[in-house]
Amino acid sequence: MRNLISLTQFGGVYHEGSSTMADRPLALVTGASTGIGYELAVQSAKNGFDLIIAADEPAINEAARQIQSLGSSVVPVQADLATLAGVDQLLDAVGARPVDALLANAGRGLGKGFLDQNFDDILHVINTNITGTVYLAHQIAKTMRARRSGRILFTGSIAGFIPGTFQAVYNGTKAFINSFSFALRAELKDTGVTVTCLMPGATETEFFERADMLDTKIGQSEKDDPADVAKVGFEAMMKGEGDVVTGWKNKVQATVANILPAGMLAEQHRRKAEPGYSEKSKSRR
Ligand SMILES: NC(=O)c1ccc[n+]([C@@H]2O[C@H](COP(=O)([O-])OP(=O)(O)OC[C@H]3O[C@@H](n4cnc5c(N)ncnc54)[C@H](OP(=O)(O)O)[C@@H]3O)[C@@H](O)[C@H]2O)c1
Repeated sequence: MRNLISLTQFGGVYHEGSSTMADRPLALVTGASTGIGYELAVQSAKNGFDLIIAADEPAINEAARQIQSLGSSVVPVQADLATLAGVDQLLDAVGARPVDALLANAGRGLGKGFLDQNFDDILHVINTNITGTVYLAHQIAKTMRARRSGRILFTGSIAGFIPGTFQAVYNGTKAFINSFSFALRAELKDTGVTVTCLMPGATETEFFERADMLDTKIGQSEKDDPADVAKVGFEAMMKGEGDVVTGWKNKVQATVANILPAGMLAEQHRRKAEPGYSEKSKSRR
């Protein structure tokens, strides 16, 4: 019955204070149709949160159906979070209900050389990863600060520590998110609102296919399990930790990135992200 009520609420019949929606904490998870975001939503459901989940494609509705089977009320919102109007659509779905946890995870990559990328795609990456994320955080964090309670998790990346040759714009957006997350955390110190940055390394999701990076070494390499990554991130958020790099190999990479000169890191990244990689070309690199 709860599931039916939730889907009805998505249709706009949500009444503030209804017993199904008001008694449990609410998590808002963006980019929850697949990958790390889907698993963050699963973690939220398993830990007693009701959910509003968002993504750009209709697959978000199927994700909601699956997550509801874990016993949470889940409201799917299909909106392009690269636009302020799309973020407003998500905020409308939240309405007046307090958000206890914001998991701002939606993001996309973009491979190939900067000058060979389409500028609309470049803008879409910047607007999804930065503009929409920052606008959503601005709106939700204000209400958290006023209530003196809330948790925010940003999905940054260890890519934010490394100049991303053949993924230059994406890595730049993640450098922004990593930095922004630490700064916001410091600003909100003593307000009852915690800010955590989840910084995964390469993870087995649809990310590399969507970024047109399947012909790269990193696109073809073995990657981390998104369920493991999300669990580590969710737990760090619940503990109110500042940041978490998932997996020991990524921890080493993040540490090395703080020591090596940027030019050297950029050359290392070329080897991982340069297009045209295949088993055949492996011996030449
Ligand atoms: N995979 C990795 O190696 C890796 C490593 C470090 C950090 N990350 C970060 O992890 C986050 C999740 O990525 P993932 O690896 O799980 O990739 P993914 O499987 O491609 O998931 C991306 C999610 O974001 C949503 N999304 C993308 N653009 C959107 C937009 N404009 N509006 C609304 N939703 C949008 C997608 O939904 P639609 O399909 O509906 O657009 C999808 O739900 C991203 O921020 C990414 O930068 C990934």
